[in-house]
Amino acid sequence: MLFKQQVLLRQKLFVLGSLAVGSLLYIVARVGSLDRLQPTCPIEGQFGDQEQIMLRALQYKRGLAHDLRKGNATKEQIRLHNMVQQLPQAIIIGVRKGGTRALLEMLNLHPAVVKASQEIHFFDNDENYAKGIEWYRKKMPFSYPYQITIEKSPAYFITEEVPERIYKMNSSIKLLIIVREPTTRAISDYTQVLEGKERKNKTYYKFEKLAIDPTTCEVNTKYKAVRTSIYTKHLERWLKYFPIEQFHIVDGDRLITEPLPELQLVEKFLNLPPRISQYNLYFNATRGFYCLRFNIVFNKCLAGSKGRIHPEVDPLVVNKLHKFFHPFNQKFYQITGRSFSWPYK
Ligand code: A3P
Repeated sequence: MLFKQQVLLRQKLFVLGSLAVGSLLYIVARVGSLDRLQPTCPIEGQFGDQEQIMLRALQYKRGLAHDLRKGNATKEQIRLHNMVQQLPQAIIIGVRKGGTRALLEMLNLHPAVVKASQEIHFFDNDENYAKGIEWYRKKMPFSYPYQITIEKSPAYFITEEVPERIYKMNSSIKLLIIVREPTTRAISDYTQVLEGKERKNKTYYKFEKLAIDPTTCEVNTKYKAVRTSIYTKHLERWLKYFPIEQFHIVDGDRLITEPLPELQLVEKFLNLPPRISQYNLYFNATRGFYCLRFNIVFNKCLAGSKGRIHPEVDPLVVNKLHKFFHPFNQKFYQITGRSFSWPYK
């Protein structure tokens, strides 16, 4: 009897001991694997021995950098994290309604990119320009020195003085232009203005009336929405200052339907390691557009003012515009080396 009890006790002790050893082994293995599970720096290898800082950058990008921009961070934090306000190394210069906001927000998914949230209008606005380059720099977000700052002001593309002014700041800056099929872009431009008028309870002309000159029945080239869509005319002014290699053309229509490949081309142009992935972009059926996923908790869609419903436009006017833009488009394809199958009849 006593012997039987001793055997049972020994068996119990053996089971308990095994459990204790097993748990210990599990904890050791888990801690080891946790180590391995630490996020690897997404821009690893690109910037030599700064990897440690870059990993921190990722962790802070949505935290500290956000506070800094909002003015909540202390000077000590800025000094400690070596953050600076840098002039942009790349600018989205246009075009209005091409998808400039979507492009900026999507590029900002990249850990090495920091965006200026507001349109600064430094180079196209004489009053702002007169405030000087330090005023402009102070408008930029805080960033780590290895990150690149990007701003977007679509008015730059069509404003006469801007190319020379940007050239004076940085003659080797990278310039991004996002374009859409020119007639669609013009209608989108009109829709934005129309909405503004409606908000103020004002009436406005129909698109057809503005786009077609009633005396000649030809396309009205004085109408700004039409002029902005003659991409080649504006680009030619820029080419007096910058070689074509400094420009990258983004297909705004493709950015709507298939954003990732367009963003990958931009990453390449900016010499950034490819870090934006399909995970970062998800289609939101309610919005009818791709939205942005930064991480498991933080995602966002663009504001409702992006992706408006366009008014119906007389197909004859649409055709007339297609034909009108065609020779300009051909020239644009030729200069930029990027062709689009924009309609021409
Ligand atoms: P529409 O409102 O005509 O549809 P911008 O930012 O230059 O003003 O461009 C606005 C356009 O961005 C919108 O034009 C919309 O089609 C386009 N766009 C591209 N990607 C988008 C996205 N993911 N969400 C919302 N709009 C997007």
